Amino acid sequence: MAKKTLKKGLLITFEGPERCGKSTHSKKIVLFLRKKGYSVVHTREPGGTAVGDAIREVLLKKRKIFISPLAEMLLFEASRAELVKSVIRPALRAGKIVITDRFNDATMVYQGYAGGVPIKDIRKVESVSLGGVRPDLTVVLDIDISRGLRKIKTRLKDRMESKKISFHRKVRRGYLWLAAKDKKRIIVVKTEKRIEDTFLAVKEGVLRAVQKYTRSG
Ligand code: TMP
Repeated sequence: MAKKTLKKGLLITFEGPERCGKSTHSKKIVLFLRKKGYSVVHTREPGGTAVGDAIREVLLKKRKIFISPLAEMLLFEASRAELVKSVIRPALRAGKIVITDRFNDATMVYQGYAGGVPIKDIRKVESVSLGGVRPDLTVVLDIDISRGLRKIKTRLKDRMESKKISFHRKVRRGYLWLAAKDKKRIIVVKTEKRIEDTFLAVKEGVLRAVQKYTRSG
């Protein structure tokens, strides 16, 4: 199949509360877009680089280490700065589609809205770590919090998952708050019982964005 080219690189982020299904849907959309002939880079946060994976270990696996909210925010941003520099910006410059499981909205919501770090401080640090790279489209998968958390019963919860249910409820509200402020960029997809039903809505939103930037002919 002929490779499809875009007028510019496209950054699509997948977000939502715990166990909302973002990695399932991002994987499905990556396969779908590749089958259609697009060049797609798939990554995740925190992580996606050697230093990012090491930071992920500290942030999620080290359940006994106390990390203050400010330091936590800076660690997520450090992982992001590395990912933007070494993976996302080069792929966007090459005209590819970049799909990432979580990005800057996660910091705004988890550390800011739910965690209490002042939003204006996050914006300041973010402007440095992103260096002008911004998502073109964000898919927020919305799930009922108790349904999401119930899915984490087969393994030990990580540091973020172990936070109180009230924190996770705030995370959900935080995503809906962001989506209401930026309706052009953020689409909210309610997760249905059947993955395929949810995926139909995800696919529709992503295709609309991708087709807008696809070169004709
Ligand atoms: P996940 O890969 O399962 O989404 O795990 C990442 C966890 O890290 C999840 O609990 C959300 C959290 N997180 C933040 O708190 N802030 C951030 O900026 C990012 C990217 C993730």
